[in-house]
Parts: sequence; C-alpha cells; structure tokens
Amino acid sequence: MTAHPAYLMTDPAQYDVAYTINPWMRPDVWSADPAANRQAALIASQALRIALEHGGAAVHTVPAVAGLPDLVFPANAAIILDGKALAARFHHPERQGEEPHFIRALNTLRDQGVLTDVAQIEVAQEGAGDCIWDASRGLFWVGSGPRSSAKSVVIIAKHFGKQVVHLPLATEQFYHLDTCFCPLSGGEILYYPPALTPEARGRLLDLVPAHMLIEATADDAAGFCVNAVSLNKTVIMAKPPVALRARLEERGYAVLGVDLSPFMLSGGGAFCMTLRLDWSSAPAIAASNERLAA
Ligand code: ARG
Repeated sequence: MTAHPAYLMTDPAQYDVAYTINPWMRPDVWSADPAANRQAALIASQALRIALEHGGAAVHTVPAVAGLPDLVFPANAAIILDGKALAARFHHPERQGEEPHFIRALNTLRDQGVLTDVAQIEVAQEGAGDCIWDASRGLFWVGSGPRSSAKSVVIIAKHFGKQVVHLPLATEQFYHLDTCFCPLSGGEILYYPPALTPEARGRLLDLVPAHMLIEATADDAAGFCVNAVSLNKTVIMAKPPVALRARLEERGYAVLGVDLSPFMLSGGGAFCMTLRLDWSSAPAIAASNERLAA
C-alpha cells in the first residue's frame, strides 16, 4: 500500500440510464424524473469522491462525454498494476464508444507520470470490473462470463507477469466479478457465493482459509455492498444493511455507507465508479502472505 492511494473517477455530468445491458438497469425509473435523478447522481458521485479524499486518496477525473452515460464506471476502463494499464474492450456496443475516451485519459495519466505504460487488450475484457488485484496475496482474481472472455486470463497473466486465478461467473445478475467479490485490505474476501460457478468456489476455497472468507447475503449483494472500495481499514460502499456493517466492524473495519442509489439504477456501486491507479505488486507481500497462511 503506497502512502497516497490514487483513483480515477468520471465527471458524472452526462450520466443517465438510457439502455439496458444488465438486469439491474432501470431506464424507466430514470426517465420518470431525469432532472431529480441527475441532481441526485451529482450529489452521490461527489459524496463518493469526498469519501476517497477523506481516506487520503488523490482523485483524478475523466471528462464527461455526451452519449456515453456509463463512462461514470471507470473500473471498466482498464486493469492497472505497477504503473502499467491494460485498457478494456467492451462486450456491448453501447459501451464500446467509451474505449477511446478511457485510453485518452490513461495516456494523459501516463504523460503526468501517474502511469508508465498504456496498451489495449485484444479480447473482450472489462477492466478491473473483471480483474481484481489482491494486494494481500499478490495475485489477480479474474472473472469471465457475461462481459469478459475466458481468453483474457492468459493474456493478463502474461502482460503483468503475475499469478491469476480464474473465477468464472455463474449468473447474469452478477455480470462483473466486482459485483460479487471484494478483497479487503486485511486479506479477508467479502463475496457472494451463488454468483460464482462451483469451479470458481473450489479455487477460492483452495486458496483462502475459511476464516478469511466473509459471505455476503443476497440483500448485501443486491444492495451493491459487495461492490466496495477497500481503502486501508475503511470500506466504502453503497448504504449497507445493519448486519453487514456490524460484521465488518467486528473485524476492525470502518464502514462508510454512501447513498449511491442513482448509480444502482445502472447496476453499479462504489467499486465500479472508481479505478485504483497506484496498485503495486512490490510492498510487503512476503510478510503479509506469512500472516495470511498463519
Ligand atoms: N451499466 C453499466 C454496465 O452494465 C454498469 C457497470 C458497472 N461496472 C462494474 N464494474 N460493475 O456496463
């Protein structure tokens, strides 16, 4: 963990819910009162940004683009580790127009010295939404299914030279790995078991001791609380059920609930609205692996 975490977010000025590419999306609810929903979205995005900044993070911003409402989900822009960005290729035509804008933003970050290298993957792969860095274990958890191709697994392993663990997704509801799977800073993994295939669950149980696995309930998952940002000992998420908050607090985490309901109308929560820019494979992995194995 570096001293100053850095994230990418997108200016939400052009956000709306205009089409349906996942089962949570509600263009009907959005269009019932677009002005109020837009206002609520601006407030929600600002609240999330303030939560990150309050946690000591720097937040970089992708400019809004008219006609690309889901640009507000930069988790899907790229996979980032050690300064290298591997930009996404979107499955749905509705989001493919985002690719050049995200690549431009990543190139700007490279020019500013935040990143060192920007390339684009050659198969369908939706960034950190389906490829989550586990800083405690020094590996990527890689989802495939509704959005990202299973072919991405080998490409990611080669590009970054890191261990990858393939977790195929079982359902359309939990269409990105980040909707159902969240490594926390202390090494625990908050996840929703029914969203993973039996094969994926088997791999997870082989690698992570049971006491480090926190099973989310159907309500936690449907509330986009598994789609959380783990920042040091704070977990930032859409407003959590009381029981989930208590379970995380018992383990020493501070839970920061943000009202992200306007973005849940598009099937997204806190993690999707951010992209961690400074993940590094270097620090203290050996020490933390020993602790995790103990
Ligand atoms: N409406 C967006 C989509 O379906 C939401 C993306 C949420 N992003 C995420 N990483 N889960 O693509």
